[in-house]
Amino acid sequence: MTGKYYDAIIIGAGASGLYCALHAGQRGLRVLVLDHANKAGKKILMSGGGRCNFTNYFVAPEHFISANSHFCKSALSRYPSWEFIAMVERHQVAYHEREHGQLFCDDSAQDILTMLLDECQAAGVEIRLNTQVDTVSAQEPDATDGTRFAISTTPKASKKAAVSEPAPTVYHSRTLVVATGGLSIPTMGASGLGYQLAEQFGHSIEPCTASLVPFTFTDQIGELIRSLSGVSIPVVASNARASFRLPLLFTHRGLSGPSMLQLSNYWHTGETIDINLFPNTDISALLIKHKQKHPKQLIRTVLAEHASDKLPKKLLSALQTHLWHEQRDTDLANIKDEQLHQLGEILNGWTLKPSGTEGYRTAEVTRGGVTTEAVSSKTMESKQQQGLYFIGEVLDMTGWLGGYNFQWAWASGYACAQAL
Ligand code: FDA
Repeated sequence: MTGKYYDAIIIGAGASGLYCALHAGQRGLRVLVLDHANKAGKKILMSGGGRCNFTNYFVAPEHFISANSHFCKSALSRYPSWEFIAMVERHQVAYHEREHGQLFCDDSAQDILTMLLDECQAAGVEIRLNTQVDTVSAQEPDATDGTRFAISTTPKASKKAAVSEPAPTVYHSRTLVVATGGLSIPTMGASGLGYQLAEQFGHSIEPCTASLVPFTFTDQIGELIRSLSGVSIPVVASNARASFRLPLLFTHRGLSGPSMLQLSNYWHTGETIDINLFPNTDISALLIKHKQKHPKQLIRTVLAEHASDKLPKKLLSALQTHLWHEQRDTDLANIKDEQLHQLGEILNGWTLKPSGTEGYRTAEVTRGGVTTEAVSSKTMESKQQQGLYFIGEVLDMTGWLGGYNFQWAWASGYACAQAL
């Protein structure tokens, strides 16, 4: 075994790990980043449809979900989004704003990763990929070099030529930063190591769930939804905790689109969700008004021609089959007011019960994680183990869709780097 000594070892070369590394390196610290993947920042590359929604102009604690809603305040206020934007501009990465203050690269998410890796290199940060972390142990700081942590690793054997057993390496460090992210997209390197390390050092974990993820449905509703695959409409999607006026997308697996992803952050298994398909029109009032003025009209004609929200024909016809099949050819005059009211209530608040979500296979984030109670909100240092830090998604801090999760990665990474 060989021994190497650092001021900070960061496990995870993702968004928060790289960001923390470059700032710690700029402070003159000897920094090593370890990752088991064969490439740094894989999630950055796949983010924002390949264009990386790297932050948002409007970042506030209300955009985050955690058992402790106050935890994010200090780091977010000390590292506002314009600080990151300034770095993006210094590196001449072209970007643009989309709706709701979301900032995306003009060209490619690779620009953000290249920027982070260039900054790490300039700050003298070492990055070791293909490195499996086997064990982590902590002891009293060494009297001569102050190191406290021993991280035992094995290089991942190359698939091509595994001639002999790869030699283990033990790294020693004064501080250890856990930046291993969440559980979503295991094929991109996600693992539960961060949670295991947290538990090893006496931390508790808030239950983890796939989040920012499409909903799935079974039964008749599932069939109806799948038959509409590809249809997208603006809706208001709500439950008891939150409400979002954003597009909804029917897919061959269930319901997706920004409104559903956002609502998934606030949804728990077994609960229902409400979808207002006509967010700009009171459908009960519209149908009753037309019954009085144009009693010969059909429900579908009123909805197609007079509602201020225009639903695609395919959707209207599917809803008719599902919701008012028996009255499809009955004129309004022959439908009771009560029935029209009921239909209006459904169309303005369609209550559905998802059977589940697509899970970690497609989820953008993991809700839950290392409980924040035992972590300093100023430095991200563990209150259980001196010199141990948690940053980014491994913590119980989940952002909305819209660049908030990266902003948390940058802000928590920065706060930590100042304290190492
Ligand atoms: P991150 O996942 O970035 O990094 C963790 C690192 O730890 C990885 O490199 C991993 O290989 C490594 N690791 C894990 N286990 C390990 C082990 N056992 N040993 C060694 N290394 C280990 N957010 C946003 O704000 N805007 C967006 O546009 C998007 N888009 C998006 C799209 C998709 C498809 C996904 C999956 C996610 C997003 N996100 C997003 C979310 C965002 O990518 C995410 O919140 C951040 O990358 C979290 O940063 P972290 O550094 O915490 O983890």
